[in-house]
Amino acid sequence: MSGPTFKGVGQPYGGRGLYLGWYGQCLTKRSWLGYLALMNIKVPPANATTAQAKVPMGLGGVHKSLAERLAELHGEIKADGSLTSLSRIAIALYDESTDILKTFIHSSDTDSPLDHSSARLSDLPSLRDLALNGGRRIINNLEIAADSGQEHATRLVSFGYRASYTMPIQSKGIFYGFLFLNSFQPDYFSPLVIHRLRPYLDLIAQVVMRELDTVRMMQAAVKVIRQVSSLRDEETGAHLARMARYARLIAVKLADSHNLGDEFIEYLFQFAPLHDLGKISVPDHILLKPGRLTPEEFEVMKGHVVRGLEIIDMLVFDFGIDALEHFELLRDVIAYHHEALDGSGYPHKLKGNEIPLAARICAVADVFDALTSERPYKKAWSNEEAFQLLQDQAGTKFDPDCVRSLLECASEVAFIQAHFDETVYD
Ligand SMILES: [Fe+2]
Ligand SMILES: [Fe+2]
Repeated sequence: MSGPTFKGVGQPYGGRGLYLGWYGQCLTKRSWLGYLALMNIKVPPANATTAQAKVPMGLGGVHKSLAERLAELHGEIKADGSLTSLSRIAIALYDESTDILKTFIHSSDTDSPLDHSSARLSDLPSLRDLALNGGRRIINNLEIAADSGQEHATRLVSFGYRASYTMPIQSKGIFYGFLFLNSFQPDYFSPLVIHRLRPYLDLIAQVVMRELDTVRMMQAAVKVIRQVSSLRDEETGAHLARMARYARLIAVKLADSHNLGDEFIEYLFQFAPLHDLGKISVPDHILLKPGRLTPEEFEVMKGHVVRGLEIIDMLVFDFGIDALEHFELLRDVIAYHHEALDGSGYPHKLKGNEIPLAARICAVADVFDALTSERPYKKAWSNEEAFQLLQDQAGTKFDPDCVRSLLECASEVAFIQAHFDETVYD
């Protein structure tokens, strides 16, 4: 695929089919650069040759993360003379199935005051109203909000922020989350500032929705594949929902020590359920065999890892979404979720830190749920029995940090098990 070619205002950008329309009339020349950065569109330098302007994007290539692109746009916004005091842009995503609002990406002039945070939307009345009814929320004196006991406001004030502006990100009946802006200046969000910010905010929301829709499209395709195959009998949707949430719990616990951003955590959560996609290629008499597999059958079963990679690569090419966020993370989860710390796993027999962290996290999450779930050939283990096995094999099979992290979340694990039992989710 060729790189995108600049075709001018109102025209589609090469290969991406995006019409800029209204934005073309509202954005200044400087903000155009921010727009292009946010959309991950490269503008060739004026003296670029035709060959330079058509560098293939490739699967793992030059794609920047959404957080990097948001930071670039933030820089462009602040370079607009009247908007220099916009000190923080942050996005939180909403998980409808658990009513959880969670931090995602941000660009801040300080360390982020709210990394790895989550809360139930129903516990946040003013945000819940925004999600239900639309509109905007302006708090031009955060100290008053902090004094009234709002936890997030207190943390923002402790980092020096004094004003906030919030808008919901929603389209066609889908609520994706919120866009939060902050400034160190009290009363910063005047009608004039909001007017100048509006085109930027709308395009940030548009890009976030586009990225999330890409992931949803991938998940929907995989869901269809599962439903028309025997895989749905081998692994239930509830198993996938639970193990993804266990993976998220572990990643949040490891975030500080392993320097994991909320963006990594979110994509790990989104991609973890795809780990066994390759099992659709395993014949039913092996996939659904109630007893122990023979060595020959186990060899066939092991092939699901390589097959999963082939399928996901095909899906990505066929959907034309080679710029999928964190595609390498998705490939890591599929390729290495059966590796073991001591090198006894498969198919590559990687050891220790040779195994990508995303796969080490998913291995613990997946095995814990497999042990605590009833399967045709076994009863469900208790959580205590499963925790004990993970502890016994921590350092040999499993990453001890990942095991410890899950053990520290026993109450959250119980909540997830109660929420996603086998009867309510497919
Ligand atoms: Fe697997
Ligand atoms: Fe699994």
